[in-house]
Amino acid sequence: MEQEKIGTAQGKEETAILTVNGKTIGLPVITGTEGEKAIDISRLRQLTGYITLDLGYGNTGSCTSAITFMDGEKGILRYRGIPVGQLAEHSTFVETAYLLINGRLPIQRELQAFSVMLNDHSLVHEDMKFFFQNYPRATHPMGILSSMVTALRSFYPELETLSHTENVNMTMTRLLSKLRTMAAVSYKISRGHTPEYPRPDLSYCANFLNMMFNSPVKPYVIDDVLVKALNTFWILHADHEQNCSTSVVRMVGSARVNLYAAISAGMAALWGPLHGGANQKVVEMLEKIQAAGGDAKPFIARAKDKNDPFRLMGFGHRVYKTYDPRAKIMKNICHDVLARLKTDDPLLPIAMELEETARKDLYFIDHNLYPNVDFYSGIVLRALGIPTNMFTVMFAIGRLPGWIAQWKEDHDDPGWRLHRPRQIYVGNTVRDYVPMSQRTEAGAEPGKAAAPRSGRKPAP
Ligand code: CMC
Repeated sequence: MEQEKIGTAQGKEETAILTVNGKTIGLPVITGTEGEKAIDISRLRQLTGYITLDLGYGNTGSCTSAITFMDGEKGILRYRGIPVGQLAEHSTFVETAYLLINGRLPIQRELQAFSVMLNDHSLVHEDMKFFFQNYPRATHPMGILSSMVTALRSFYPELETLSHTENVNMTMTRLLSKLRTMAAVSYKISRGHTPEYPRPDLSYCANFLNMMFNSPVKPYVIDDVLVKALNTFWILHADHEQNCSTSVVRMVGSARVNLYAAISAGMAALWGPLHGGANQKVVEMLEKIQAAGGDAKPFIARAKDKNDPFRLMGFGHRVYKTYDPRAKIMKNICHDVLARLKTDDPLLPIAMELEETARKDLYFIDHNLYPNVDFYSGIVLRALGIPTNMFTVMFAIGRLPGWIAQWKEDHDDPGWRLHRPRQIYVGNTVRDYVPMSQRTEAGAEPGKAAAPRSGRKPAP
């Protein structure tokens, strides 16, 4: 076999050696600050003519990033190096947003200035209310909000005249402040009520709850425990490295589209039931278990059945192969909020029982399926009074700082390139166009498709 040394990684500690089609090449090994290793294949095609194939990107690093670190085996999640548990305990959502976007905790003066900016930009253009009013009543709030975020861009044509930095700072602030207002406006309008304006004397989270629930006939009483719960809920969702929606934001952003459009695309991805839409699906699943008498076993049996696409919602994660650290904190918030409200949610014991039964089951043990952040978050949101169809909107408001930070990191990267994956084509080889008059039913050929991976459950 021909052995040709084509390239080695110069000045790197480690090199991966790959032999392909008789040629041996050295590929640089990149080591992250937490010791994670990656083989840099950026010259692979140029050197060998081959590409890598990694369905679902389980082994593909799409970027280097200094924002969030997670270790799925150990259940670690840190934002800019700070454990998420510490932030949940001591920080606020606004401070955590600053941390994610700017890379460090703010000093008092900076946090104050950031809060003032968020307050100054918290109103939405009055004309936007017409958009909300004209959506069909049955529209899912995620559909409304993702299109509204794109529409926001049209209200600020002056952006083009600002410097790039001013433009980006203004846009980031507007998004962070207005998405929260827009979510509350869409809720009020969906109920046929007049939207509530933001108040300058209230904090970010208290303001949101007030805009959602204050009414001229029933003033909303702001409760510190509930405000703290919302802060924690949003902190826990604030970033999660290269998840589906964040990868979308980076991908779309790499085309140098404006930030509103990139965030809107991320929101569309988050809407999916396997991603941010899972929190709504968890509650719907728990309600079904409750309606069926409270016995979770038939649902667990379905989740294990190879021929049934049903999955236990709120269980499993692409990266975590142990407890999602966010799920543990979320479970504690459930108890805090329900205790404060002096109420019970019948779904909580069902969820706890389901968790216990599943965690003893061999299928869930063997597949490393643990509760994820969405498993208990719906119960927290229900207790706060958030309607089920707005659960994913709540996730989106929380994830916004992460999307912005990731977009900015990609945008400011001197090594930036348009994101453009390749593929292995498995369709028809060249064939001639057949005129309509010569086509027959029998002649209709199905396209060739790659064989599905055997033994897997059908897609949910
Ligand atoms: N219930 C039953 N089986 C499951 C589940 C589940 N919730 N999740 C994964 N599996 C099985 C799956 O059937 C497959 O089995 P097999 O190898 O025997 O065919 C195996 O576990 C691996 O599944 P996968 O689809 O390759 O795993 P993934 O890493 O692509 O999926 C996931 C991750 C989150 C999409 C998946 O666990 C899932 O669908 N969970 C339910 C939806 C959910 O809770 N999503 C929220 C995720 S956390 C919030 C967020 O970050 O968005």
